[in-house]
Amino acid sequence: MAEALRSGTEHLFKVLVIGELGVGKTSIIKRYVHRLFSHNYRATIGVDFALKVLPWDPNTLIRLQLWDIAGQERFGNMTRVYYKEAVGAFVVFDVSRHSTFDAVLKWKSDLDSKVKLPNGEPIPAVLLANKCDQQWDGLENSPSTLDRYCKDNGFIAWFETSAKENINIDEATQLLVKNILASDFIHLSENREPDNVNLTDMTEEDENKARCC
Ligand code: GTP
Ligand code: MG
Repeated sequence: MAEALRSGTEHLFKVLVIGELGVGKTSIIKRYVHRLFSHNYRATIGVDFALKVLPWDPNTLIRLQLWDIAGQERFGNMTRVYYKEAVGAFVVFDVSRHSTFDAVLKWKSDLDSKVKLPNGEPIPAVLLANKCDQQWDGLENSPSTLDRYCKDNGFIAWFETSAKENINIDEATQLLVKNILASDFIHLSENREPDNVNLTDMTEEDENKARCC
């Protein structure tokens, strides 16, 4: 594999994980990257980062830079900075709290208004119905209803996930990456320096905030 990769392609993809407070964004990332889960809740402040190296095929290596945006950031004014140059997103809600589903469209429209593919299309977004190990709170979870919801609101797909039970997180990521690879954005990602978080458009104040977070 290493030999093949020397002549193959490497991509760095910035992927956002957004949604209301406490829906499980940090837990999903921890499960995906570190294979860990904790019941303790510590709210993310600002933004956090994680990197997952994903051998895609013998010729392609993908570095997924996961941006874990704090739920409370929907009320701040930093999301435009955080979203910049993202090529994909997960919008997460908690199936056991209906209010977090109601906020999904607020996150989606914030996303679509602040970041776009070069051709003007929205970046691929996958909806995650997290904590599916728990009881759904008055939500209609029939596949056809959520399929329709995704079609109407510009999500490429939805998955029931559980960070606790490790359900569907790998599958959702595979699908998102597949869509990112298929999108027009790919040519922009090819020659980027891996691990190089682009902070160029931040003001000094923004940069300090992001770093300290
Ligand atoms: P903010 O950082 O405040 O935006 O929250 P977050 O979306 O990052 O939530 P976090 O991952 O910190 O999880 C919040 C709480 O939900 C924690 O107590 C987790 O243990 C719990 N949790 C996360 N995912 C799951 C899950 O799939 N099932 C269950 N039962 N609990 C979960
Ligand atoms: Mg968090």
